[in-house]
Amino acid sequence: MPHVLSTSQFTKEEAERILSRAREMEAECASGNVAKLLKDKIIACIFFEPSTRTRLSFEAAAFRLGANVISAENAAENSSAHKGETIEDTARIVSSYADALVMRHYEAGAAQAAAAVISKPVINGGDGAHEHPTQGLLDLYTIHKEHGRLDGLSVAFVGDLKNSRTLHSLLPLLVQYSGNTFTFVSPDELRMPKEYTDELSKKGITFSETEDLESALKNADVVYMTRVQKERFESEEDYARVKDAFLLKPEHLTHIKPDAIIMHPLPRLNEIDHAIDADKRAAYFRQAENGLYVRMALLCYVFGL
Ligand code: NCD
Repeated sequence: MPHVLSTSQFTKEEAERILSRAREMEAECASGNVAKLLKDKIIACIFFEPSTRTRLSFEAAAFRLGANVISAENAAENSSAHKGETIEDTARIVSSYADALVMRHYEAGAAQAAAAVISKPVINGGDGAHEHPTQGLLDLYTIHKEHGRLDGLSVAFVGDLKNSRTLHSLLPLLVQYSGNTFTFVSPDELRMPKEYTDELSKKGITFSETEDLESALKNADVVYMTRVQKERFESEEDYARVKDAFLLKPEHLTHIKPDAIIMHPLPRLNEIDHAIDADKRAAYFRQAENGLYVRMALLCYVFGL
């Protein structure tokens, strides 16, 4: 039974198979005729951190495919974790009730730890600041759908690059395609972790790091904004110093190419002015919808369907 723990587990071919399955799911949803491939399956969604899109799109994906869902939406408070139960024990118990476990946790490596002790598939819905592989895949799906290709793209990642797990999952997918280049735009204290930039250098991939948003926008095919991840900061003061670091405003649009797309995993706080929503380059709501199709494809993937 395969797990979904990190995007690094996928070859380019495997990732593309998931995208192509997601396209089938999108078409089935549009036709109103979705094959109930997961009939009789029970999917458990255990979320130790807040979520709107990830949990609800997974639950909707499961229902669309005919599965049933059991859910702990505030597991840090409402599950036995609150009494001190380990993630391994919680996973063991839940896996005896359900056929697959979708989980989000505040600790890096939590999904991996759960997967190590159970014989049912585990899907990582975000583990601390580490990874968010299902978001990485839906972002890849979105870029392909919007641009018609995944290579030769200039990508600007903006904001909290240190803590944004969605980027840590998307980057390894994008580097598998030739000719992609990256501009990392962040305050100094929120730079992309060195392990990721070292990997790019090792592979000879072109990238630059800057605090100059305007210049980074000029060549970008993809502008990927991120929220400053308040929950990962040690103090309110540290957060306050950088929380409004980069706001994309209507006047920036003149610097962005006419066929570029603006992405954001959402929720947005003060990163994208709402006046930008009406611009056709604003892809973030389309991106969120794509999550449903990609998560349907991923549920099928873990069951070998
Ligand atoms: C992201 C997350 O949880 O990492 N949200 C999401 O799943 N779409 C991004 C964020 O919370 O900023």
